[in-house]
Amino acid sequence: MGAVILGTGSCLPDRVLSNHDLEKIVETSDEWIRTRTGIKTRRISGKGEEAYRLATVAGQRAMEMAGVTAEEIDLIVVATISSHMLMPSCACFVQKELGAVKAFAFDINAACSGFLFGLDMVDKYLRADREKKILLIGAETLSSHTDWEDRNTCILFGDGAGAVVMGYRDEARGVVASNLFSDGNLWSLLCMHAAPSCNPDLNPPQHPGTHILMEGREVFKYAVKAMEGAVLDLLAREKVDLDTIGLMIPHQANIRILNKLVSRLGLPAEKVFINVQKYGNTSAASIPIALDEASREGRLKPDDLLLVCSFGGGFTWGAALVRW
Ligand code: UT7
Repeated sequence: MGAVILGTGSCLPDRVLSNHDLEKIVETSDEWIRTRTGIKTRRISGKGEEAYRLATVAGQRAMEMAGVTAEEIDLIVVATISSHMLMPSCACFVQKELGAVKAFAFDINAACSGFLFGLDMVDKYLRADREKKILLIGAETLSSHTDWEDRNTCILFGDGAGAVVMGYRDEARGVVASNLFSDGNLWSLLCMHAAPSCNPDLNPPQHPGTHILMEGREVFKYAVKAMEGAVLDLLAREKVDLDTIGLMIPHQANIRILNKLVSRLGLPAEKVFINVQKYGNTSAASIPIALDEASREGRLKPDDLLLVCSFGGGFTWGAALVRW
């Protein structure tokens, strides 16, 4: 009994940027990118494809699947670190676009773990207020925070949005439990500065720009260990055997991170959903986009136990179990 996913949706920008396209921008190769990351293409937003617009379409698709109208939505939460404005929130723009007149709306920032953290929050909200219908979205346009001269990062990220409609059901399905963590001490290994401050006293001596900065190797090491720990801890706490997992949807960061994680856990490859080759790392949007694809492709059957896990800037990380 708990917070059930009633519908899923996603929306990707039209423009496809291939590894061969990147070869013309920075000194890299399709071969290097494919073998080091598993990524072949990513989507990049063009005019009219701001994060809130992708989020709105993803939300509409999720509502359509759930059979819920915009007027019935009580709360809109958007996990994002790349909305086109700081204020109002991305969620307020989505509320306006959808015409979700009674919904209150706000954003959360937990970087790539934003959707997972939102899922936990929505689960607890719905257990406290069972009549509500909630639209939870992960939406990113990280192309606007990418240094297109930095080959260490510009090959990794992509734009997109994924959404779920959630409501409480007196049924033996829904969010089972989650296990979330943060460690602010490690912030500088993966970060993105705000715009220069209007108060000069608050600026760092040299403003590094508002693009993503990353120590790739360090992030890699922490990501595998942290997700493995969060998953094993959660399974032990909930007395769930790994064999009973129907599908795992990890944050789509990098195929090497995912392969390492999966082999350390001992999960068979066919139980892991991977689409990083198509979209790259879409941060908070990656899990809900993958969830939408998995559900529409019939990879999730009623009563399946779904395992999701993520890792991102902060650091933030965790895992959750959902009975489908
Ligand atoms: O949500 C979490 C977000 N972050 C991540 O998921 C990132 C995690 N980290 C990674 O995925 C990997 O560390 C990267 C894919 C970013 C890099 O792979 P790596 O195997 O750790 O490479 P590296 O940084 O150790 O660099 C190896 C070499 C270097 O050259 P030298 O110093 O050995 O001559 C780099 O300069 O590869 C070079 N290199 C590249 N070469 C061609 C770095 N980026 C590129 C590139 N194309 N795009």
